Amino acid sequence: MSEHELEPKAISIIGLGAMGTALASILIDTGNTVTVWNRTSARAEALLARGARRAATVAEALATSDVVNLCLYAAVDATLAGHGAAITGKTIVNLTNGRPDEVRALSTALGSQGARYLDGGIMATPPMIGTPHAFILYSGSADAFEDAKEQLAAFGQSHYLGEDPVLAAVSDLALLSAMYGLFGGYLHATALAGSVGFTAKEFLPLVEPWLAAMMTALPDYAERIDSGDHARDVMSNLQMQSVAISNIVAASHSLGIDPAFMEPIERLAKKRLAAGFGSDEASGIIEAMRGK
Ligand SMILES: NC(=O)c1ccc[n+]([C@@H]2O[C@H](COP(=O)([O-])OP(=O)(O)OC[C@H]3O[C@@H](n4cnc5c(N)ncnc54)[C@H](OP(=O)(O)O)[C@@H]3O)[C@@H](O)[C@H]2O)c1
Repeated sequence: MSEHELEPKAISIIGLGAMGTALASILIDTGNTVTVWNRTSARAEALLARGARRAATVAEALATSDVVNLCLYAAVDATLAGHGAAITGKTIVNLTNGRPDEVRALSTALGSQGARYLDGGIMATPPMIGTPHAFILYSGSADAFEDAKEQLAAFGQSHYLGEDPVLAAVSDLALLSAMYGLFGGYLHATALAGSVGFTAKEFLPLVEPWLAAMMTALPDYAERIDSGDHARDVMSNLQMQSVAISNIVAASHSLGIDPAFMEPIERLAKKRLAAGFGSDEASGIIEAMRGK
């Protein structure tokens, strides 16, 4: 065993899509005894060839290991349903993207069956698993995290957020929201530039440094948001910015680009303007999002 490998420990992975396969692979590479189950059993073949053990059923995957990771696209509760006795005493790590109400219900149901529940949000793509760029958010049972953290460290950097099981799921969705905002904005921008002849590659040297420069505004935004003071030292007031936002929407219409991605921010900016905050920084749009 190399110095980076863990003491062999039994761990099960339920769900062998792109992500579950990456998680199982790194657990094999770091010396664990890995049992796998997938609804479509053929997806396990490559992992079996690398030393994973096949569980014929979900019950077997639960019975084989104390720590059971689930990484599905959906249907986590349905997959675990009817396995009450097999779940008792286990640590269930749910690495499936989900909604807070689903997470709370699952955590409560598993807790009442005598299992410890950890919810996880994977902030990485499958090729990033096992590299320093991957980070995974966890919340739920602190004892379970403590006991499983050596195994879980194989996936990337672990961030344990607290006992409330929904903390990881909501933070995961929040980070994805930032990502989809960025990607959606990039796609809209590239469609707009494309309408006057730029290829995406030609536009990239303009949009990439622009986004990187705008990212530096986030600490100032965070301070304004936490203090609720969007009026101090205003450099780019909302009145001015809302004209630019409406120009984007109007230009998109006239250039044949669907403005649907930009319309919500135009609506929120106008709501904030109508509330009398035109001379504030645009960070104040968060108050309109919060229904204020
Ligand atoms: N891929 C990424 O970049 C990425 C990044 C971060 C987080 N994640 C999260 O990781 C999770 C898995 O994503 P993935 O990329 O691995 O998805 P995927 O490649 O589409 O695989 C989906 C997995 O879910 C299983 N599944 C779907 N519906 C099921 C059901 N009703 N009953 C039992 N199994 C079911 C599939 O089984 P079959 O093989 O039988 O269809 C497969 O194992 C998701 O929650 C996703 O948000 C993914």
